[in-house]
This record gives sequence, C-alpha cells and structure tokens, in this order.
Amino acid sequence: MPALRDHWRSRFGFVMAAAGSAIGLGNLWKFPYITWDNRGGAFVLVYLVCIAAVGLPIMMAEVLIGRMTQKSPVGALKQAAGPVWALVGALGVFTGFVILSYYNVIAGWSLRNFVRCTQWSIGDFPAGVSVADGFTDFLQSPPRQMLVTVLFLGATMLVVSRGVGRGIEQAARFLMPALFGILLLLLCSALTMDGAGRAIGFIFTPRFDELRWHGVLEALGHSFFTLSLGMGAMITYGSYMKRNDSVVSASVLVVALDTLIAVTATVIMFSVIFTVPGMEQQVETAGTVGMLFVTLPEMFYTYVPLGRVLAPLFYVLVAFAALTSTISLLEVVVAYFIDERGMSRRAATAFCGSCILALSLLCSLSLGAWDVLSGFSLLAGKRGLLANLDHLAANWLLPIGGFFLTLVAGWVLTAETTRPELMDAATPRWFRYGTWRLFIRWVAPLAVLAIILTVIFLGEDFS
Ligand code: TRP
Repeated sequence: MPALRDHWRSRFGFVMAAAGSAIGLGNLWKFPYITWDNRGGAFVLVYLVCIAAVGLPIMMAEVLIGRMTQKSPVGALKQAAGPVWALVGALGVFTGFVILSYYNVIAGWSLRNFVRCTQWSIGDFPAGVSVADGFTDFLQSPPRQMLVTVLFLGATMLVVSRGVGRGIEQAARFLMPALFGILLLLLCSALTMDGAGRAIGFIFTPRFDELRWHGVLEALGHSFFTLSLGMGAMITYGSYMKRNDSVVSASVLVVALDTLIAVTATVIMFSVIFTVPGMEQQVETAGTVGMLFVTLPEMFYTYVPLGRVLAPLFYVLVAFAALTSTISLLEVVVAYFIDERGMSRRAATAFCGSCILALSLLCSLSLGAWDVLSGFSLLAGKRGLLANLDHLAANWLLPIGGFFLTLVAGWVLTAETTRPELMDAATPRWFRYGTWRLFIRWVAPLAVLAIILTVIFLGEDFS
C-alpha cells in the first residue's frame, strides 16, 4: 500500500478527468451509429431516461464509494460492503481489461484517419477513389492495424505511468477544452447545412412503433458505457478526490457534459448525412459501424465548408476524446495492482499494458485481417472478436456490474453512511437525498433487472 495516495489537484481537474473518461468513442462513434440503427427518436428518448434514472444515481454512488473509501474498486467494495463484494470489484477490473482491448483498436483508427486527412488537405482529395475501399484495405492490413493499436496503447500507458495529478489530470485539463472548442466549430458548420433540420427531427421525434427490445437493452447498456459506469472507473476516479470535494455537483456536471457531447456529435454527423444526396442509402448498405471513419471523411472534402481544415482537426478531436477514456480504463486495472498487490505504478502499468496489448492485437486482426478471428459469432449475430467483446462488455458486463453497485450503495450501505457523503456544503440546493435513495434502491436496480430478464427470456430480437 503506497504511503500517500495521489490526489486530483483541483475540482476542475477531477471534473475534466471524469468527463474525459465519460466522453469518448461512446459519444462520437457508437452513439451516432446505434441511434441510426435504432431509427432515432424513441431510442434517444429511452437512452435519455436511462441516463437520468439509472446513470446519474449510479454515477453519484460510484464517486461516493470511491471518495469515502479512498480505494480502487476491489478494496473499496471490500471495505464498504464486505469481502464477498470484492468480487464485483474484480468483475470490474476484468471488464476494464476487456473494454480497453477493443476500444484501443478503434481509437487507433483515428490516428490513421488523421494522417490520411492531413495528406488530403495538403495535397488534393483524390477524385474517383473510394474512401470505403481504402478503409477496408486498412482494416485488413495486419501491420497497419497493429501499428496504430500499439501507438495508441503506448500513449495511454505513458500518461497513466505518470500518475494521477501529473499525468491524468494534466492531460485532461488540456485535451477536454480543446475537444469542446473543435466540436463547437464543427457544430456551427453543420447547422448551416440543408440537412440539419431533418437530422434534428430524426433524433428528437419519437416513433415508438420502431423501437424493439433489443434497442431498449442497447440504450441501457450504452448509458452505462458512455458514462463509464458499472465497472468501478468512477469509484477509482472518486478515490482520488479529496474529502472536501462535492460528489453531487461534480457528478451532475459530468453526466450533463457527456450527454451534451453525444447529442451534439450526432446532430453534426446526421446533418452531413442528410445533406449529401444518396448518402443515406450508402450508409445503409455500407453498414453503420464505419460512419465515423468512412462516411464522414469523404463529405468533409466534398460538402463541408472549410472541410480541409476541419477534417484533420476532427480526427484530432476523436483521438483526444478516446485517449482520456483509454486512460481511465487502464487506470482501473493499474490501480488494482497498485492498491491490492503493492506494485509500483510503473511496474503495474507495464504489466497491465502488456497483457492488454496481447488481446488488443487479436482484436485488431478481427476485422478482416485474420479469418478465424473475423468470422466467428457468439452473441446477437455480431461478427468478429471485436464486435463480440463489445457486445459482451457493454450490454452484459456493465449492466450486471451496475446492478450490484446499486445493491451496495442502496441496500448494504445505510442512510447514516451515505447521507453525509452526499449532503455537504457544496451540494446544490435542489438535490434531495431521499430522491437519490429511492432511485438507487428501487428504480435503478429494478430497471436494469427488468431489461436483463426480458432479454434473457425473450431473446434479443423480440420486438
Ligand atoms: N465512456 C467511454 C466512452 O463513452 C468509454 C469508457 C471509458 C468506459 N472508461 C470506461 C466505459 C469505463 C465503461 C467503463 O467512450
């Protein structure tokens, strides 16, 4: 056990680091494409309800448990609830390992697109060359896939090895404001396009006849994923908070920022798609997973005003957003080895990073480069190792972890323990402890349980 625990240097630093963890590929890559696949409107509404009714209370619970115990998930849950509950922490560490392994690969694609777009911006956008084909080539090329994967994981390890205040906080303080700026610039450009109105209609008009149970599970799972909940990432970040930082206001701010960025990114992307003639069909046929990396680049150069400048900038944004998230994923795994196994930070980072790299490289080859990894399908018709791991982690491991966390925060911990943790001088006036307790004891666990059971018994394709 290290003698002195590293802490955030300021409240702003914590909020930026936590928002950095939450805002990532989940917002920029995944939310737009699952919103498209689930036909917008009703799905977005279910997602927003999940964020408010399940995500926000659990966010407060995780930060609270972390700040209270000053420990990472395994130790925190052992101390707060008893030795058996340490298993939930262990599940979290395992989930972090799984998510980082594939997340890192997709994050790497942003580097490739940044380089490509820079080349196009400096030279010329080649007429008649298919961006989609170029990207498929890249997916199927083992050396290039492995290179970007190694680079991205290396950058993540570098930051994590520098520690909490000096590494993670410093990175987030710079990266997050830059990200907000770039996104605002893109939004202004998107709103001038003809398709903006249709995009907003698609996202905000609920059409419930198009919603399926699969979509409800996906909305729930995504609300965990996008807020980095269900595996103790926020317990870990909360454990670096000083006792006098407020849990409630920081949690609200992080959840609000994450939601704002997800919706903004989707408005931007759909505005472009609805503006370009024939794009909708192309998105449907080419598959939506590649929206961020395939659909968008072409349009930057053909439709978007100032696209030449914005395109490389956009992939810088994606890389920044992904980096602050991979940092938090790695930190959960590393913190376990530091806190519970007494390793030094550098040794823990090197060890965890190498293990993750092994699985990550397999994921990077599962998009066409290696048939065995690319072809198999275990879950919900997902093809390839990467897609199956994503489905497993986001739709099953995180909601299950989150369910147990509600039990700890709502049922194992007493009101005498949690009330003073949430109610302090900095807590906003509108916050009601009783409401939080009602949600964490009943609403959140029952909602998660109901959705999980429905899907188990009726199957994911039941509509
Ligand atoms: N929230 C991040 C995103 O939306 C991903 C992420 C980072 C995450 N840390 C996590 C997801 C911890 C679950 C748990 O891209």
